[in-house]
Amino acid sequence: MKKRRRYIIAGNWKMNKTAAEAVELARGVAREWGNEAGVEVVLCPPFTALESVARTLEDSSVLLGAQNMYPADAGAYTGEVSAQMLRHFNVSHVILGHSERREYFAESDAFINEKVLAALGNDLIPILCVGETLEQREQGDTLGVVDAQVRGGLKQVTIEDAENLVIAYEPIWAIGTGKTATPQMAQEVHASIRGILADLFGSGPADTIRIQYGGSMKPGNAAELLSQPDIDGGLIGGASLEAQSFSGIVGAAAKAR
Ligand code: PGA
Repeated sequence: MKKRRRYIIAGNWKMNKTAAEAVELARGVAREWGNEAGVEVVLCPPFTALESVARTLEDSSVLLGAQNMYPADAGAYTGEVSAQMLRHFNVSHVILGHSERREYFAESDAFINEKVLAALGNDLIPILCVGETLEQREQGDTLGVVDAQVRGGLKQVTIEDAENLVIAYEPIWAIGTGKTATPQMAQEVHASIRGILADLFGSGPADTIRIQYGGSMKPGNAAELLSQPDIDGGLIGGASLEAQSFSGIVGAAAKAR
């Protein structure tokens, strides 16, 4: 039986692609998957390419996401971008709390929580990223670290808003390293995240929230990861920078059960 939750495959292009290159990549993805109804496909280019990619995706079912935002509506925040500015480009999703932002830009759970609330308040779907370092995993702290990040990131989120959340479990040691969590390792953490969501919002809403896996997901390992009961999609970095490999992962989701 197919899972009740619709798979969501998102490409996190990080700080890659000029606007022109981004349009080319988006065209390639839209050509393959622009009419796909079974899988939610989201492309997250850098800010500088959002407008041109938005135009490229206008007549396709492929959705547009941003990689970050600032929680305030407007004001003196040099270099930052607000939820409303993103909405203007038809952005529907926003990645928040990615481990690279936590590490290089010192983002705390409290700050990420402000962003999650601002995103939801502006009808953006937050993709809240959580995940442990290698050291934390080796010390047996994985579930505790993820628990604190999920609860910290979702403070004050209402039950009504909960169904608009997406969580991405991304073990930091698997990001961009070619090392993937085994399907069993990932499933254990995904199940534990669903348990936390049930504790926060009740089991009904928790059953509807998609939890993506991220960390060296590729066409070759996607099917097995996606077949796990609590893995509802992927957040793809490296393999999303090329239409063919990204399409391979979307294809695996389209076939997964
Ligand atoms: P990766 O990145 O697929 O290159 O490991 C995933 C991510 O950071 O979202």
